[in-house]
Amino acid sequence: MVVRSLHLSNFRNYASQDLTLPPGLVALTGDNGQGKTNLLEALCVLSTTKSPLIERDRDLIRWEQRQARLEAEIELSSRMASGREGERRHLFYDWRLEGNSVAREMRVGGVPQSAIAQWLGQLQVVAFFPHDLVLITGDPSERRRFLNLELGKTRPSHFADAARYRRVLQQRNALLKYFLDRRGKSQSTSGEPNAGLGTLSEWNRQLVTYGARILEQRTQFLHELAPILAEVHRGLSGIAGQTLTIEYVAGVKNARDESWSRAFGTALEADYDTDLRRGNTQSGPHRDDLVFWLGSMDLRRFGSQGQQRLAVLSLKIALARWVRDTTGESPILLLDDALSELDGTRRALVLQHASTFEQSILTATDETFIHGAPAHVFQVAAGRVRDADYADIC
Ligand SMILES: Nc1ncnc2c1ncn2[C@@H]1O[C@H](COP(=O)(O)OP(=O)(O)OP(=O)(O)O)[C@@H](O)[C@H]1O
Ligand SMILES: [Mg+2]
Repeated sequence: MVVRSLHLSNFRNYASQDLTLPPGLVALTGDNGQGKTNLLEALCVLSTTKSPLIERDRDLIRWEQRQARLEAEIELSSRMASGREGERRHLFYDWRLEGNSVAREMRVGGVPQSAIAQWLGQLQVVAFFPHDLVLITGDPSERRRFLNLELGKTRPSHFADAARYRRVLQQRNALLKYFLDRRGKSQSTSGEPNAGLGTLSEWNRQLVTYGARILEQRTQFLHELAPILAEVHRGLSGIAGQTLTIEYVAGVKNARDESWSRAFGTALEADYDTDLRRGNTQSGPHRDDLVFWLGSMDLRRFGSQGQQRLAVLSLKIALARWVRDTTGESPILLLDDALSELDGTRRALVLQHASTFEQSILTATDETFIHGAPAHVFQVAAGRVRDADYADIC
């Protein structure tokens, strides 16, 4: 898909900006702190209503303002098999501060959308931000967030499963804490919590149902991604011997290759005493983690910053290809400051990858980074975007 036009109103340092974008390679250049990253962030917010960079929606609103709006005209892929090729859709997302909360309004083609599930997928982006290095260096929760988000983009039902799982897990843990409490109070009399055991087995049943779906989908996703990732990384790194792989360290032990629901059920039984003693749940996808390997080296522990960066960049490019393969729709690749720490050969390779998508938008402080590439250049200064190529023609 292609973003044909974009409107930002009171978003970050943009007061009001209209922009017409061409397909293909688009470069945003400009000095530090001018609004390049903000523009890519705006597209991410339009895609999911969430910023990948900050938690609070209110911080996205221009200072001193109470309301922000993003609009975009999207054109669907010509590759689409559904006969919707060339179809255009207008997205409208508006949010405003109301007291302490944020009120939102989403519209597709003028039609109000109430469910986030309907909204997701309208604008598919895959973004790389330098901040994404936390995928390797940060806590396991960063990697689970990544899994949730990326899977949810192509399968909105995954968000629903993850939300249900979280709810059941909370309830199960609350019950375990209640048991723990009661045990503490009646140490000498009865040790076994009989009341509530029926409820616990119901929570177990639901936990296994939703948990197994999450485990299955994550396994499948990583399996599909693996060959694409290895290929993209091999191309970018130029080193043939060291394959980039992602090991799935599931929060459920599955030694005999059984189904995830059986393995999870078995794990819950095995953990029963520990769960009761600790008042929380030891096994489940909420304990999943990923390990990034470069050959036999753990990238988190031993990788150089450059190696980690190239791994994350490869991951994002591979992801964009995976989205295209699974949905038939070319996502928009957003690369924030991806070229700055690369040598000339690698820069050219990244640009080559980026130009295989219907549209890729990248930022650079240095315009020479994109010299030689067929990119349409926009200059960003103090929250204003200027079409440099158009100005050149005039
Ligand atoms: N809510 C906000 N309201 C107004 N301005 C904001 C808001 N949030 C961030 N800014 C401003 O936006 C600017 C940063 O923009 P951005 O991160 O897009 O810069 P950049 O062009 O990507 O710079 P760099 O090359 O350093 O990465 C800063 O000047 C910051 O003060
Ligand atoms: Mg930036």
